[in-house]
Amino acid sequence: MARVTFQPDGRTVEVAPGTSILDAAGAAGVELPHNCGGVCACVTCHVWVEEGLASLSEPSEHEDDRLSEAMGQAATSRLGCQATVGAADVVVRLPGNRIAS
Ligand code: FES
Repeated sequence: MARVTFQPDGRTVEVAPGTSILDAAGAAGVELPHNCGGVCACVTCHVWVEEGLASLSEPSEHEDDRLSEAMGQAATSRLGCQATVGAADVVVRLPGNRIAS
């Protein structure tokens, strides 16, 4: 199991390796938009990875193409629906405060 923490509010969830950041967000009660339903066709699930970037699944060329369209795109950017957790803990930051009540 790996711990995924969502900033800025610090909600944390433990998930099995292979779980996407998007699914982890759902388990943590964090509202991470996913307008295309998680098929790498939008960029609404964009997050910045503050810790554990190297432990995530490798981004595909298609994800990299999509990320280039993301507002605030950075070297630590990933799409939540595409990045899956490995064995290490991860900290991600959402572009806005999207914590569900
Ligand atoms: S939900 Fe659309 S790219 Fe991730």
